[in-house]
Amino acid sequence: MKRRSGIVVAVILLLPLMLAAQIPGYGTDIEGKIDALLAQMTLAEKIGQLKHYTGGDSEEHRQMAADGTVGSFLNVTGAGKTNALQKLAVENSRLHIPIIFGQDVIHGYKTIFPIPLAEAASWNPELVERAAGVAAREARASGIHWTFAPMVDIARDPRWGRIAEGSGEDPHLGATLAAARVRGFQGMDLSAADRVAACVKHYVGYGAAEGGRDYNTTEISERTLRDIYLPPFAAAVNAGAATLMSAFNDLNGIPASANPFTLTEVLRNEWGFKGFVVSDWNSIGELLNHGIAADGAEAARLALYAGVEMDMEGRIYRNHLADLVDKGTVSTAAIDEAVRRILRIKLLLGLFDQPYTDPLLEKQVLLTPENLMIARQMARESIVLLKNDKNILPLSKSTKIALIGPLADSKQDMLGTWSCMGEAKDVITLLQGIQAAASKPGHVVAAKGCSVTGNDRSGFKAAMQAAKNSDVVVAVVGESADLSGEASSRADITLPGVQEALVKELAAVGKPLVVILLAGRPVAIPWIADHAAAILMGWHGGVQAGPAMADVLFGDYNPSGKLPVSWPRVVGQVPLYYNYKNTGRPTSEQKYTTRYLDWPVTPQYVFGFGKSYTQFAYSHLVVDKNEMGPQATLTCSAVVTNTGRVAGDEIVQLYIRDMAASVTRPVKELKGFKRVHLKPGESRKIEFTLGPAELGFHDADHRYVVEPGLFKVWVGPNSAEGIEGQFTIR
Ligand code: GLC
Repeated sequence: MKRRSGIVVAVILLLPLMLAAQIPGYGTDIEGKIDALLAQMTLAEKIGQLKHYTGGDSEEHRQMAADGTVGSFLNVTGAGKTNALQKLAVENSRLHIPIIFGQDVIHGYKTIFPIPLAEAASWNPELVERAAGVAAREARASGIHWTFAPMVDIARDPRWGRIAEGSGEDPHLGATLAAARVRGFQGMDLSAADRVAACVKHYVGYGAAEGGRDYNTTEISERTLRDIYLPPFAAAVNAGAATLMSAFNDLNGIPASANPFTLTEVLRNEWGFKGFVVSDWNSIGELLNHGIAADGAEAARLALYAGVEMDMEGRIYRNHLADLVDKGTVSTAAIDEAVRRILRIKLLLGLFDQPYTDPLLEKQVLLTPENLMIARQMARESIVLLKNDKNILPLSKSTKIALIGPLADSKQDMLGTWSCMGEAKDVITLLQGIQAAASKPGHVVAAKGCSVTGNDRSGFKAAMQAAKNSDVVVAVVGESADLSGEASSRADITLPGVQEALVKELAAVGKPLVVILLAGRPVAIPWIADHAAAILMGWHGGVQAGPAMADVLFGDYNPSGKLPVSWPRVVGQVPLYYNYKNTGRPTSEQKYTTRYLDWPVTPQYVFGFGKSYTQFAYSHLVVDKNEMGPQATLTCSAVVTNTGRVAGDEIVQLYIRDMAASVTRPVKELKGFKRVHLKPGESRKIEFTLGPAELGFHDADHRYVVEPGLFKVWVGPNSAEGIEGQFTIR
């Protein structure tokens, strides 16, 4: 095969990026302090820094803290508890090395924001960064120094429960939001009283679990790894992420928690990472289940030398490293390098100078009005309007509404998965929010109808009665919080229980039917998609889910959300993603093409899709160069006009296609997006820059190249629509 002479821009392109950003504060004079500590530490004290336990409330843990033989805990929260354990380490241990406290602050600490997949639907990096900043402030004030977030796993399979925790299927959107969350958590000074160290997870490829089954095997080619799954991690490291978490999955035969290629070659040698890697929960111990280690000693050696510094809840490092050093199987140098990286982050966090948390701070920063305002805005911008026939929405605030469904007045489920220290009592439900916003609260009548799961239809009768007495029926259906997240994959992604039957009976009443979906994943709703007048995806919207949904339902906020994932019609279409390869027989009506006999291959709703209460028109696409060299950049612009009757935000998206290359390329790739607010009749020219960072890919030799040839470009409202242009790389 004649190789196209691609221009290898890797060194030219990536070097500045790698030098441009490091962990905030890195390079200041802390290495000397680390040298001095290492020189004094016993082997037991060094290995202690590599151990990470949950709880911290046992006598054993307290003794280890006092002995200086544990470096880190998770699930110890509150200034009181963390200070007590910290005091044992700092005042009683021989070298006074402080403990680092970690916690899963995934979408808020106490002020719970919409789940991360919902935040991704906002396509608003600035707001995502602000939300992470609120979470950091609340967590640090509560004694937490380190969050096991952002979760940046690319997910192309909604059967996988953890799709809820990430930013969806696209590397560009995922990378942009990963960097935003790292900035929001860490700021520019890790020692600040309102910042925490990030922990980018799960490194890497976890979301490609076969069958969408959590913890399952992943087989990912190096090119797909580099072009699809690694970019969000690279962006997070480039934004200065202090730590990463290695994943559970078997990655091409080498489990991610013992994979030298990803953990050392890519992460340290190519990206220059200077922080540390913590394993996922006992993922080192699980190397025995994988069959990659015959015993704990081998697991310890494999993980440490691959590049995992800290053993979360695994006891493998605790039980085997000292013997391995004594036998000479593991070098002192390897131990010292691991300890160095952990001490580096503790020093950058300022824990040696300020190991304790001010207990007064906690009360001042949790659930403040400003935090709640940001949570409400995030929930508003995460809501996606999927259908709005005859512009039935927004509703008048005097509408007689029958709010029907098991999630209409649920508090706990609005918190979603990984709700940290969030409490149901702090949630405003959809019923509460809509009644509060209505001009006649008595006009909003609720009936549960059924439960989320189970076959009990005894509530249908009261639901139908409420529907008959209303002007509009608003069905609120979907998934409870425990049906997504870790260990919560579903083989059937339709609405659980008898919820769809409830909606069908409501439709038969004959009143206009609005369906609000609340779930941690896209759910298969082909019948509802055809029969409801309007459909809103509210995900799990956090403590402000109710007010935000009311804002959208009554038009106080014009929905702007766009899907961060392709939405399947049926689960049989999965894996389903927009940046697919064209194949030799692209889908068509012809029989002998890549298609199904029984369902279309297209999604119910495409990646990037979301409607508004107004309409936007795209025109005047201009590419300022017809051709250019492989290292040049060009500007692509288009005019967006609000042709409707209300103001609104549009998230303008830029896609490209490399028409012919040395390896097959996706039919579309998102390479830019911008939010624009337009009044009725207003137009705005939106500009994007395209250069090597956007036009390149990894070739057959896994080199990052920009190759000559024709490129098409689209600017539009989603991955399926837009105005087209083209240019050539010579
Ligand atoms: C879990 C999750 C990981 C989390 C860790 C600590 O198993 O996989 O995302 O951070 O354990 O709770």
